[in-house]
Amino acid sequence: MTPNAPSSSAPSSPDASPIKDRSGVRVFSGIQPSGRLHLGNYLGAIRRWVHGQGATESFICVVDLHAITVYQDPEQLKRQSRELTAMLLASGIDPDRTHLFVQSHVRAHAEASWLLSCVTPLGWLERMTQYKDKSQKQKSIKTALLTYPVLQAADILLYDADEVPVGEDQKQHIELARDVAQTFNHTYGETFVVPQPKIAKVGARIMALDDPTAKMSKSSSTAKGHAVLLDDDDADILRALKRAVTDSGRDICFSDDPEKAGVNNLLTIYQLMTGKSQEATLADFASARGYGDLKKAVAEVVIEEIRPIRERYRQLMDDPAELDRLLAIGAEQARAVAEPKLVEIKEKMGFAVPAALR
Ligand code: TYM
Repeated sequence: MTPNAPSSSAPSSPDASPIKDRSGVRVFSGIQPSGRLHLGNYLGAIRRWVHGQGATESFICVVDLHAITVYQDPEQLKRQSRELTAMLLASGIDPDRTHLFVQSHVRAHAEASWLLSCVTPLGWLERMTQYKDKSQKQKSIKTALLTYPVLQAADILLYDADEVPVGEDQKQHIELARDVAQTFNHTYGETFVVPQPKIAKVGARIMALDDPTAKMSKSSSTAKGHAVLLDDDDADILRALKRAVTDSGRDICFSDDPEKAGVNNLLTIYQLMTGKSQEATLADFASARGYGDLKKAVAEVVIEEIRPIRERYRQLMDDPAELDRLLAIGAEQARAVAEPKLVEIKEKMGFAVPAALR
């Protein structure tokens, strides 16, 4: 096979593309082991992954290679990958129904990232808003901060994922992955499924409690009053929600008005936690005496949901060997899909893949 010559010929290994024969929807998503998880991660992503299990084939990845685009203390990184794994399991990720694994345990991600960077125009990466934001805040910008979305594209495309459930902030990266897939398919012949971002209608962007005009974010998650963290105890949760910034009015309503962003955010959290409609949510506050009542009610439903997660998390952290065992199984399941796909990519690009690797 020659490079640049589009080809639709079957890969040489019989199971080189198990994906093409599969029937169900395949889901892939990832989360960084950098910083503690907050309610935005939970409502915008994790909880949706949990609810989607079983109905789809799911791959959930602890993206440690992405985390090191900003310096991570090596000991801490190791600990944080385990902590994140425990938190995902505690939140309901079921290793019998989800392939849960750590990105660096599957070498194909780094290799595919290089290959895909060779079809990705620099201009696409320079336009990424997350790169523009983050690079402005740093004195010495590392190359990987720019190429980060190519690694993210590799994560998704290696699994031929149909759907990528993420929060709003990741939409542009998934669109880039789509563009990379289409460019590769056009250049080398049909190789990748073009993935769809799946962004929730409600809760795609949970806002910061201390500034409801900004998203709740991991980088500020430990700042006082910014977020509810998944390992917070009941008193911390109550305190954070009681301090949540609102407005000087009294109206408890859903609204796009930036003035009402704090109240809107609290109602959204309540609505998601209770599973109620907007109307039913508002009805619950029809006789509220003010924002104090709203904050108290939100704190109650958040505490009810977070408490068992925190308790399960603590139990899981007591058994690191079991976490490692589950991750080893997840990595093996991921490699079974990613490695043949990598061979397919390389063959399409014209590499002479040794028979032993096919
Ligand atoms: P990360 O680790 O920043 O966030 C993990 C998930 O949480 C969502 N999220 C939010 N959702 C709603 N409101 C918020 N305030 C909020 N903050 C975060 C994110 O949208 C995300 O879904 N680049 C990705 C990780 C990644 C990935 C992938 C995702 C790497 N490879 C492949 C999907 C597919 C990231 O940094 O997510």
